[in-house]
Amino acid sequence: MINIICALAENNAIGFENRLLYRLSNDLRRFKELTSGHTVVMGRKTFDSLPKGALPNRRNIVLTRQQGLEIPGVEIYHSLLDALAACPADTEVFIMGGEMVYAEALPTTDRLYLTHVHNTPAQADAFFPEIAADQWQAIEQQEFEADEKNECPYTFATYIRK
Ligand SMILES: NC(=O)c1ccc[n+]([C@@H]2O[C@H](COP(=O)([O-])OP(=O)(O)OC[C@H]3O[C@@H](n4cnc5c(N)ncnc54)[C@H](OP(=O)(O)O)[C@@H]3O)[C@@H](O)[C@H]2O)c1
Repeated sequence: MINIICALAENNAIGFENRLLYRLSNDLRRFKELTSGHTVVMGRKTFDSLPKGALPNRRNIVLTRQQGLEIPGVEIYHSLLDALAACPADTEVFIMGGEMVYAEALPTTDRLYLTHVHNTPAQADAFFPEIAADQWQAIEQQEFEADEKNECPYTFATYIRK
């Protein structure tokens, strides 16, 4: 199963200057719960944005066009197609960004785990692709208010293809 996991603002913004836009402790926890024990696929820039390198307890796949790049704890692939071909059909694969990889992966994705952040950031330079409302069905939605560890209200939503 190919899943996308992403936190996006109301204008689909997902990042600025290779950083996330929001501090949402519950979103980080949900990300860890959903992806642990499975495979994560990310672009090289998103990998560079991780504070501690490869994510523990997960198979980490990084996409790059650079030849010869080696990163500890990471499998490198030079195309999304090759990366997905290296993932057995009975595994859960989580596409975890950024903009470039989400855009390429969305057409072949089965399920979306989205965190809708109820805010529009002042600045953003990375965006999630448009989600065609007629192609996706929400199967779970949970709304939360802002609190001391989550700076904006947000909704956890899961979508499957119609
Ligand atoms: N809100 C969220 O949930 C979330 C999640 C993840 C990321 N983000 C944000 O997204 C932003 C980064 O997005 P981005 O689009 O700039 O970068 P990205 O998608 O993370 O990485 C782009 C890089 O990945 C490699 N790449 C992408 N597609 C490839 C392909 N098909 N084959 C081979 N290599 C490929 C290339 O690396 P080389 O240049 O090395 O060739 C490319 O420059 C950051 O602001 C980050 O914080 C947000």
